[in-house]
Amino acid sequence: MCGIVGYVGEKQARDVVIEGLRRLEYRGYDSAGIAVIDGGSIASDKKAGKLANLEKAIADDPLPPSTIGLGHTRWATHGAPNDVNAHPHLGQQRRVALVHNGIIENFAALRDELERNGHELLSETDTEIAAHLVEAELDRGGDLTSAMQVVCRRLEGAFTLVAIDAQDPSRVVAARRNSPLVVGIGEGENFLGSDVAAFIEYTREALELGQDQVVTITRDDVQVTDFDGKPAAGKRYHVDWDLSAAEKDGYDWFMRKEIFEQPRAVADALLGRHTEAGLLQLDEVRISDDELRDIDRVIIVACGTSNYAGMVAKYAIEHWTRIPCEVELSHEFRYRDPILTRNTLVVAISQSGETADTLMAIRHARGQKARVLAICNTNGSTIPRESDAVIYTHAGPEIGVASTKGFLTQMIACYLLGLYLAQVRGTKFGDEIASVVRELDKVPAHIQTMLDDSERVYDLAKTLRDAKSVLFLGRHAGFPVALEGALKLKELAYIHAEGFAAGELKHGPIALIEQDLPVFCVVPPRGRDQLHDKMISAIQEIRARGARTIVLAEDGDDTVTPYADVLIPLPQVPTLLQPLVAVIPLQLFACELATAMGHDVDQPRNLAKSVTVE
Ligand code: F6R
Repeated sequence: MCGIVGYVGEKQARDVVIEGLRRLEYRGYDSAGIAVIDGGSIASDKKAGKLANLEKAIADDPLPPSTIGLGHTRWATHGAPNDVNAHPHLGQQRRVALVHNGIIENFAALRDELERNGHELLSETDTEIAAHLVEAELDRGGDLTSAMQVVCRRLEGAFTLVAIDAQDPSRVVAARRNSPLVVGIGEGENFLGSDVAAFIEYTREALELGQDQVVTITRDDVQVTDFDGKPAAGKRYHVDWDLSAAEKDGYDWFMRKEIFEQPRAVADALLGRHTEAGLLQLDEVRISDDELRDIDRVIIVACGTSNYAGMVAKYAIEHWTRIPCEVELSHEFRYRDPILTRNTLVVAISQSGETADTLMAIRHARGQKARVLAICNTNGSTIPRESDAVIYTHAGPEIGVASTKGFLTQMIACYLLGLYLAQVRGTKFGDEIASVVRELDKVPAHIQTMLDDSERVYDLAKTLRDAKSVLFLGRHAGFPVALEGALKLKELAYIHAEGFAAGELKHGPIALIEQDLPVFCVVPPRGRDQLHDKMISAIQEIRARGARTIVLAEDGDDTVTPYADVLIPLPQVPTLLQPLVAVIPLQLFACELATAMGHDVDQPRNLAKSVTVE
């Protein structure tokens, strides 16, 4: 939530900052702002609405040339998304400009204190108090780095702060606690960003920062300390993707591009994770085989789409390993005082690696001595850094706010984990594991088949443009697919959509069925006779009550034909792997319907890509 950019070097700061904000806009798009240092004073501009509004404002009234600056794209927490509440915020004498991502929890007390001392605060934000505090600290002597350290020691909550001091055009200073920040290391220039997309155009060398650290960048140097000023070290890494991955590449939306990247993303997620003979090798699982054998319970924590990946994982993990597996929303987890021991494996699934709810869940789990394994897409992010082990999903940057390739590769990582546990614990024979691995290797080609058939789904979307409500039904591993189909439609098309386990219909939801209500039905493969047949009965029941059925069923499954108003064939895969193919038409459908309705697919209203506040 919120995108932050900082720059010092030789280029025009306004260009670097605006370009960085464009690449980070998916993190928040309520308002945007920029500040640069111009001959001992701060020049800044900020505008409510999308970045385009700010760009227009600075095209009409250009900012002065400067080689140092910062910028922000906002997802509002404190105060409405208007011009005044937009960042940057300035100190009382306009000496300091500061941007912030997160929530300062003790801001009310600090605001009272500032007002008692004669400060005039212009906005409703928690951020402005940090700008005033840093400036007040500078007035007491010292430099921006030490002022930032002092102020951070007083702040509670989650924050990434980036600041500049009009009287010191050599440095940009930033700090982080519980919110993301990375440094981009260039030649004669350095960068700060909420993630590497902010500076990927200029450098792929990055520095990951730890918790409670302050970083000072100048043209030629990067210095890291803790909040007490003691020297600290960041972790350097090379970003393994480049600018092309952060561009739309001819697609209308990042989301559509990311849907079509899924065959490659899934192949990359599988790459190097098994031998030719199908023996799993997950080098990043830094928990010993002995410890994995002692695991007596798995708890998956995640939010939103990632939680649905966890629901799919539960079916696979319990089936392959016979270890009880629960799936829980991260934000519910720690508040129910869960029973955890050192033999509990907590699996945190997070595309961004920054979701505050999931981060707090794993901190709680580690505090109770459970082992934590992260499944994550973002190198250098906080959740894997604070976990005992990590399986990276290797999907490449996901920029569309609605998760697509992130979801598929999370499921792949979960399957790999389940098979690895089965291998280590001997709950499946080697040839059984190898046979699942062979099926997984075929998935990229299956997804491609689904994508090649996208016109069928696009035509369907055209016919459902005026739908007021859409339901999704599934059973077993198809149930989380139904939930995911509904979530995609809600967040992109803003229409009422709900996913149900088909068996639950008769316990209430069937009352919603009325003439022509569109219902997507994910039918399990025929191999699982009982499940398959029960799903067919459910389809018959809703059709008898007037529903318009859109049936996703295995190619060649003629039993469904009489009950399908629209039939979408799925490649033949084992039941447990069916979510990997069944979700593709649901992603395409939501993307296409939202496009037809004229919505911004990449930046749906009220949302932000990475939810860094609880
Ligand atoms: C929906 C979506 C969200 C995320 C959720 C968790 O399309 O993207 O529901 O899945 O906010 O985010 P991560 O995986 O980054 O923890």
